[in-house]
Amino acid sequence: MQISIIGCGYVGLVTGGCLAAVGHHVTCVDNDAERIRALQAGHIPIYEPHLDHVIAAARAAGRMDYSTDVAVAARSADAIFICVGTPPLENGDADLSSIDAVARIIATEARGTKLVIEKSTVPVRTGEQLRRALEIYGRAGGAKFQVASNPEFLREGSSVHDFLHPDRIVVGVDEPATAERMREIYRPILDRTFTCPVHNGACPSASPPPFVVTTINSSELIKHASNSFLALKISYANVLADLCERLGADVEEVTRAVGMDPRIGPLFLRAGIGFGGFCFPKDIQAFYRLAERAGIDFVLLKEAEQINKQRIDHFLEKARRALWVLKGKQVGLLGLAFKPHTDDIRFAPALEILRRLLAEGASLRAYDPQAMNKTQAQFPTVNYCRDAYDVASGADAVLLLTEWPEFRDLDWVRIRDSMLRPLVLDGRNLLNPAAMRQLGFEYHSIGRPD
Ligand code: UDX
Repeated sequence: MQISIIGCGYVGLVTGGCLAAVGHHVTCVDNDAERIRALQAGHIPIYEPHLDHVIAAARAAGRMDYSTDVAVAARSADAIFICVGTPPLENGDADLSSIDAVARIIATEARGTKLVIEKSTVPVRTGEQLRRALEIYGRAGGAKFQVASNPEFLREGSSVHDFLHPDRIVVGVDEPATAERMREIYRPILDRTFTCPVHNGACPSASPPPFVVTTINSSELIKHASNSFLALKISYANVLADLCERLGADVEEVTRAVGMDPRIGPLFLRAGIGFGGFCFPKDIQAFYRLAERAGIDFVLLKEAEQINKQRIDHFLEKARRALWVLKGKQVGLLGLAFKPHTDDIRFAPALEILRRLLAEGASLRAYDPQAMNKTQAQFPTVNYCRDAYDVASGADAVLLLTEWPEFRDLDWVRIRDSMLRPLVLDGRNLLNPAAMRQLGFEYHSIGRPD
């Protein structure tokens, strides 16, 4: 199928790359000419495991190209995925102006029948508005539009895997024929007839993902409901951690056993410095606003958000307790990205900690395997180091803020010997407390006995 992807951000590139990888012909479109020039030159603007290979292979096979022209892409495609940004406005609502602008171009340029798929995360009822906009703007052209909502559940750092091996594919439609066309798009993934770039073609055996067909409104709600529930789960684990600290229990032991109940599940119960990234903080706010406008006070979401904000205060309080005065201290930061395996620093808890430490007069050295360039552009006064050992050298404390697996395997004896004071605050419970103390560290983590 000929597919156009409008919006070459994170979701657009992963969607475009993966759809091309499974055999479709894809044009990725963005109005940012510089971004398109860089993509054409082979530069992928985000760090995402496997994505560069997936895109390079699709380009080499002649199945993927780029354009700045939405009109051409709208005319040539059978299906158009709208993946433009919907950033929060000041009042917490999602800004849908980019979707409206794209709908206008598609509607005026399209001829014949076009499948228009909303992939951006949007509030419920956006699909209805999109359909109306396409019909109104397109009344002169006579094209027919099928509209679908197709939320993505991709996790940064494993999004190529998640796209090609989804837990479920959700499509919201208002007529069965649209669901069938969506099924055609996902057929290679449902039938596993593609060569998987993540497992080099040798994927672990699994049953096909459920293909869930709903109304458009339900589909839009599913995305916000999923993300908000995961955020609730994390905040729940974080309050448990505080309780464990007060009562002398160990949150890792507690959540491990709690998560063994299949009704609860083990994932997203990791306590730490809280959730960040461009999805959870924004989605939980947008979902709260949406409920509020529908006359529902979804107070659980407000609480989860509040608990998440307090994680930073709580962690800094630990740092102050250990270091007494922060001003003038040399503090090493391990990890800047909002989670491992990405260079994304948007709403990263590590960055908020960095900002507050700078404001209190600490002198900072930092290292992250991928996120240093982006952080440097925002915080030029931090000393960016070539590795974790460089960060620790002469430091009064090392703060572990993103759980990159490689930090677990560092030579901690070497780190201890190079620090001014062997003090580690582990905001992600990555390291083993007994082992760290055995090595002679003063070691503090989250929700585990000191
Ligand atoms: C999330 C959803 O998981 C995904 O389905 C959706 O499509 C986009 O939003 P992502 O933002 O990439 O994905 O990251 P995720 O792995 O969900 O982590 C979000 C944040 O929660 C990170 O800051 C992470 O460190 C934190 N987190 C996650 C915890 O603090 N504890 C946990 O147990 C899990």
